[in-house]
Amino acid sequence: MTGVKRNVAVLISGRGTNLRALIDSTTQDADHPARIALVLSNRAEAEGLEIAKAAGIETAVIPSKGKERAEFDAILDTVLRAKDIDYICLAGFMRLLTHGFVQAWYGRMINIHPSLLPAFKGTDVHARVIESGTRFTGCSVHFVSPEVDAGPIILQAVVPVPQEATAESIAAAVLEQEHALYPQALRLLAEGRLVIEGQRVRVTG
Ligand code: GAR
Repeated sequence: MTGVKRNVAVLISGRGTNLRALIDSTTQDADHPARIALVLSNRAEAEGLEIAKAAGIETAVIPSKGKERAEFDAILDTVLRAKDIDYICLAGFMRLLTHGFVQAWYGRMINIHPSLLPAFKGTDVHARVIESGTRFTGCSVHFVSPEVDAGPIILQAVVPVPQEATAESIAAAVLEQEHALYPQALRLLAEGRLVIEGQRVRVTG
């Protein structure tokens, strides 16, 4: 191993297939610049927690139900700082974060979204893609900014929408691309190769 690894926290709410892709990519390369130091969920039943445990990664649950956003984010921030976290990956984390939290972590927190942003922000993406008649969709990894799904875009992958596509078939095709794209983006981030210039991201080196 060369150099000190950057500590990454992955935040999840559910299944955790992107988490698995991030774990695989960081553990399969001894020289990877990042290690996943913590997997944190706002739901104790998130299946992704088991994936983390099986990989020997520390997990934490901060139940969000019944908590004010500011209270949740304050606890989250304390946990992340106590663990010396350098970067945050949101991977199917279905909870909005306060502007204060987002600003505190700006440039160090990334998200994956299952559309070609800035198109189809928000939820229920694939059904809206089908309904719109668009011929192409995809996925985007972006820096998290206070406006939801609107931060500077790091990488995108394109997925065609065939005539016979359903929301389910598109979700599966997009997810496959997500699993390749998110690890690439995390590697660039941990290598310090991403420079935010307004709404654009320049990849250096
Ligand atoms: C992924 O498709 C991800 O892009 C999406 O949730 C899914 C999580 O799957 N995220 C969002 O919609 C965020 N707005 P996973 O738990 O299997 O990684």
